[in-house]
Amino acid sequence: MFDISTYTKRREQLKKQISKGIALFLGNNESPMNYRANTYRYRQDSTFLYFFGINEPGFAAVIDFESGEEIIFGNDLDIDAIIWTGLRPSIAEKAALCGVKDTRPLNKLESYLSQNANRPVHFLPPYRHDNSLLIEKLLGIKVEFQKNYISVPLIKAVVALRSVKEQAEIEALEEAMKMAWHMHTSGMKMIKPGLYEREIHGVMEGIALSFGGAVSFPIILTVNGETLHNHYHGNKMQAGDLLLIDAGVEAPNHYCTDHTRTYPVSGSYSPKQREIYELVLKANKEAIEMIRPDITFREIHLHAATVIAEGLKDLGLMQGNTKEAVNQGAHALFFPHGLGHMMGLDVHDMEDLGENHVGYDKETPRSSQFGTGFLRFGKKLKEGFVLTVEPGIYFIPALIDKWKNENKFKEFINYDKVESYRTFGGIRIEDDILVTANSHKILGQMIPKEVDEIENILKNQP
Ligand code: GLY
Ligand code: MN
Repeated sequence: MFDISTYTKRREQLKKQISKGIALFLGNNESPMNYRANTYRYRQDSTFLYFFGINEPGFAAVIDFESGEEIIFGNDLDIDAIIWTGLRPSIAEKAALCGVKDTRPLNKLESYLSQNANRPVHFLPPYRHDNSLLIEKLLGIKVEFQKNYISVPLIKAVVALRSVKEQAEIEALEEAMKMAWHMHTSGMKMIKPGLYEREIHGVMEGIALSFGGAVSFPIILTVNGETLHNHYHGNKMQAGDLLLIDAGVEAPNHYCTDHTRTYPVSGSYSPKQREIYELVLKANKEAIEMIRPDITFREIHLHAATVIAEGLKDLGLMQGNTKEAVNQGAHALFFPHGLGHMMGLDVHDMEDLGENHVGYDKETPRSSQFGTGFLRFGKKLKEGFVLTVEPGIYFIPALIDKWKNENKFKEFINYDKVESYRTFGGIRIEDDILVTANSHKILGQMIPKEVDEIENILKNQP
């Protein structure tokens, strides 16, 4: 946890942004895997962590925007629970660590809310079914209608606060980056033909666990990098394959990392692989270089798309006017996702609050075009924002066939040439960037991404 003043200041700032009603924050509970007592790794709700820091199941909290009152609801352990879990600090002791003095048993939440039944209750979009059911019980709003009652003012206020990372959060992210560097470079050093993907996957996830953290999302580690969220790890790696590793750490302080590298299993990229790799790397570096306050991230995304389209034209895969190709979205055959997303307590930070609230505003509305529309974050950057930059080039046979059959963008895509890349796979290169006062900072020590550097490491291992 951070010091008490971090949490009290955050709540004071929140109170300045809303004047009426009560905010209700529900923490996350244990989530059963196959029977009630056998649970998934516990993960607290990130907004609950942000305002209260308590990393345990069974908590809720309210903030009264009119009286300023703050209450944490939770249950002290009874003797039956102590037998299984051991002694734990009391609710009052836990609440004191985030500066909340008023604590009450969880079963008093319902009566507290019914006493305030004539006042607005602001709540955030629930994403766990048990919390949706709890909202139905507490506020009488049926699960299917809750999306109509979520508080947009509360969402906006939380997004405004969590988007700008404080100094202590930047330090927490830098701590997480050290673990990420170790996890990625250890994985890279294992690569060799004949090994199964899962052998590297297991070691990398184990490294995240060994730091007392976990992975920030299920690791993507695959010789089929053209499938964007590929969680299958059963392939035996062969010389000639590319291995795409997209993995992040969630440090014990709960801050996340997210990096992608794409390596040649044989130790050297083939000339064809190297050309595409260098192109993705150019898009990655030029996009990072553009990051500064007041530029929209969409402009940077479109620049990366232009670099990719121009490079693919040089290779004979695309043709025609590059600017027009990108305007119309033809590049999305090869780069069908966004350049990046915010990162912090969540690897896709605040995605539960709604991508459009986090990444777009009136000035920068979301595109509806295939490809650019998948960009999770498009608006103007501000000092303190943390984003990923993750361009990629993929050859997705199903998408190639679909577009080719539809004669889509025939003027911009050389389908005959694309056929010769059909089994190429995919390449993505991802780094995590902090927006500074006038520019940007790449977080953490750079995980090798230059061709020569990677080949030197891979060729010189035992
Ligand atoms: N690194 C996985 C993702 O950003 O979706
Ligand atoms: Mn990412």
